[in-house]
Amino acid sequence: MDEAKISKTFAQLFTHKKRLSEAHMRDMFAQDESRFSSFSAFCGDLLLDYSKNCLDEPAMADLFSLARIAGVEKYRDDMWAAKPINFTEDRSVLHMALRYQGKSAVLVDGEDVMPAVKQVLNNIREFSQKIRSGGIIGSTGKKFTDIVSIGIGGSDLGPAMVTAALAPYANDHWPNENLRVHYVSNVDGADLGDTLKALNPANTMFIVASKTFTTDETMTNAASARDWLISSLGKEAIAAHFTAISTNIAACRAFGIKEARIFGFWDWVGGRYSVWSAIGLPVALAIGFESFEKFLMGAAEMDSHFLQTPIEKNLPVILALIGIWHRNICDFSTLAILPYDQRMSRFPAYLQQLDMESNGKRTTLRGKTTSYATGPIVWGEPGTNGQHAFYQLLHQGTDIVPCDFLIAANPDEHMGNHHAKLVANCFAQSKALMTGKDIDQVMAELKGQGMDAQKAKKIAPHKVFPGNRPSNTIVYKQLDPETLGALIALYEHKIFVQGVIWGINSFDQWGVELGKQLAKDLLPLVLDSSKKSGEAENDSSTNGLLDYFHKLKT
Ligand code: F6P
Repeated sequence: MDEAKISKTFAQLFTHKKRLSEAHMRDMFAQDESRFSSFSAFCGDLLLDYSKNCLDEPAMADLFSLARIAGVEKYRDDMWAAKPINFTEDRSVLHMALRYQGKSAVLVDGEDVMPAVKQVLNNIREFSQKIRSGGIIGSTGKKFTDIVSIGIGGSDLGPAMVTAALAPYANDHWPNENLRVHYVSNVDGADLGDTLKALNPANTMFIVASKTFTTDETMTNAASARDWLISSLGKEAIAAHFTAISTNIAACRAFGIKEARIFGFWDWVGGRYSVWSAIGLPVALAIGFESFEKFLMGAAEMDSHFLQTPIEKNLPVILALIGIWHRNICDFSTLAILPYDQRMSRFPAYLQQLDMESNGKRTTLRGKTTSYATGPIVWGEPGTNGQHAFYQLLHQGTDIVPCDFLIAANPDEHMGNHHAKLVANCFAQSKALMTGKDIDQVMAELKGQGMDAQKAKKIAPHKVFPGNRPSNTIVYKQLDPETLGALIALYEHKIFVQGVIWGINSFDQWGVELGKQLAKDLLPLVLDSSKKSGEAENDSSTNGLLDYFHKLKT
């Protein structure tokens, strides 16, 4: 990576920003009828419209150069060649192998991983089909009606989000038939407790999903679930009612899970990139293996696009570069993910982990502290709900928030004109953010409504929309398994590209460790008030909180 060239390109991008500082997208559209086609790109029938960002062709050209100079193509090829790009953990990053549809070998340390990937997929196929058909039953001979997946972070957010998003594909079993898939993640006993309240142990299968099989929340929930099962069916029921997904096979066995019920994966699959692995087993159970396979195929199509398409037409690269422009050149610190799709309600939370755990970092590959901003704060809610909550700030607030709108051309629910209204709202929001409404327009409107001039002058400033607020819009045919796979892969690769440009390792997560370690240290002081908080090396706030907690505790 040529740092001098990168700095020079960044300097050029700042010059573009200065040049465009007085520009308004409204005028850019008025002056260029082909702006939409110049600033949009496709992968299959998935469209990325990035024309509503305050950028022009010279600025885009320098962004594309930045990607080249930063070595995006080289790092992308290194990733696919299984080089240990996650160097702080000495691991390759090969989630693309999990959905690879080609026939070539995928070598890690000289060994083709594809036979093992296919073997696990076959195991998932067999297991999910048998559970769904009643070929695998509980210890008392009853069919499983409820699957409880216990995991957290990457071992929960992906499967839970995909299961909700693809609920219509569970039509064999959902909502009319018997198999229901639940997710429990929080160590707050309310999560497991509320889930178990409605369940019958004889019909319940637990899947403990944990890459490490040491994560405290998951192991605590799994142990309580095991107690719940044992209390009504006895110890011998564990083998029939517990399944595990992990890279730590020994720990699964020690928990009491039998060998045939352990689904493995590999250390070259990062937790937040693992929904394509056995971690997706609950998804296969919820929507059936055929749909799960289509989900993998959709991601594979995006992978081919990412690996083969020139940078100027490459969706993940474009999305990443727009993000770099906003984060580093414009200093916008957050990114709103706004799916106009109720079933995508967990998508923003899923992307929070994917993006913020990957790129929320301040140490470069060379071990130096960055002098520039990295990953944005990712947040969001489905439209149209968000419109009636936080869009006020998006339109008139003092912070500018780049937005990604996502919308399907076709709904799953054919109900009156609901979908037409959803689409109209989605397109209206990006249009409103872009065009805004100036004081002259507002004054004309108010006068047109018969308001007297003095009152209109007083009210008008409150009704002005500055506009020129950036957004991308992603449009797809329907939220089917292939499309969802492609959408997730799009964001995975976007985040990878940004990590390359920022010169950070997107695949470790050391930042989650300190809190975990301190929680362990504090637990004895929470459990036992006689262990004086002052004795530990705590600050006065932590001690004060502990003392007050014990005072309130009944
Ligand atoms: O807390 C962070 C993390 O390590 C994530 O990266 C991971 O997805 C999650 O915890 C769960 O880890 P595991 O699958 O090992 O239980």
